[in-house]
Amino acid sequence: MLQFPEGFRWGAATAAHQVEGGNVASDWWAREHAPGTTVPEPSGDACDSYHRYPEDMRLLAEAGLDTYRFSVEWARVEPEPGLVSRAALDHYRRMVETARSLGVTPMVTLHHFTLPRWLADRGGWRAPEAVDAFARYTETVLPVVEDVDRVCTINEPNMVAVMAGADGGESLVAAGLPAPDPVVTQALVAAHRRSREVLSAAPLVRSGWTVATQDHQPEPGCEQVAHEYGYPRDALFLEAAADDDWVGVQAYTRTKVGPDGPLPVPDDVETTLTGWEYYPPALADGVRLAARWAPGVPVLVTENGIATADDGRRVDYLRDALRGLHEVMAEGVGVQGYLAWSLLDNYEWGSYAPTFGLVAVDRTTFARTPRPSLRWLGEVARANALPG
Ligand code: GAL
Repeated sequence: MLQFPEGFRWGAATAAHQVEGGNVASDWWAREHAPGTTVPEPSGDACDSYHRYPEDMRLLAEAGLDTYRFSVEWARVEPEPGLVSRAALDHYRRMVETARSLGVTPMVTLHHFTLPRWLADRGGWRAPEAVDAFARYTETVLPVVEDVDRVCTINEPNMVAVMAGADGGESLVAAGLPAPDPVVTQALVAAHRRSREVLSAAPLVRSGWTVATQDHQPEPGCEQVAHEYGYPRDALFLEAAADDDWVGVQAYTRTKVGPDGPLPVPDDVETTLTGWEYYPPALADGVRLAARWAPGVPVLVTENGIATADDGRRVDYLRDALRGLHEVMAEGVGVQGYLAWSLLDNYEWGSYAPTFGLVAVDRTTFARTPRPSLRWLGEVARANALPG
């Protein structure tokens, strides 16, 4: 058995827009319904988790997992500039309390890809007031998270900058990412710092952000190209976390880099439903990257998983990723927990086809069906050890 340290967290993650449904005041909803949209499928009711979250949390708890990462939706909390919805704040506070009543530790993300439509209309993260607006929103949400010990300010700021670089229209493929928008990158770093300052008023909160590590692997002789390509796409955001309370690693696949940049996924490798290479060692590599750019900062794996119709393959992926994680920890990197992406099959930014869930969700009835992978991860969590 590969034992994990005492107190290691085991859980799963979701994000508001992907599971709640009816997120009508957000920029993503607007994009989904814009004339001529390139988004293949709208989010609609998603998993109806806005109402069914107690069931989601109960499934997670009953399986043996102890941590649930979810996000607060800014567009619900502040649907118009300066207009705060007390009901939305109460809702998210109930989520925190419901998790605890089930013996689950809540971890809360403040921003997971979606913005209120009003801010997007003013330029989103490029808007001159974006950083102030995010600091104010953090203050507004403080009563919800004041005793939550892990708060993530911004999920995958690197992907937010990349999406801004692509102007939101381009689909995100593993064979290279658009160049991140430098203005947005700077705004995100500033917003993160301001938000952490606000959160520091709550002594129980430990704050950080979560980065999508891309596992850039240079072909021989292409180390410099890989560094120049990779730095603004992930390392910069890990480096910006060097003074944080923790840093989140979110890893899915690798990107090989040749003399001219990223290489496409070869035809003869196994791919997942997102078209990404099946590559469990991406997790250990992501954690090593975090340890290099944010040395000494405790790492949390805040997302890891695959989109597949074959749940057995999901278990293979998680097991091999966790073996790699155990190895990095044996090398001395402090990792405090592992959260799978995702608890539920959900809205994968444009489509419901890529199924990442430990729990299947019926698209018509919203019925939840736990998959064997949920049971498997729950057993690992209960044992705090991985079968060797
Ligand atoms: C991450 C993101 C999640 C989820 C996942 C799988 O980039 O934070 O929202 O979509 O990837 O693609």
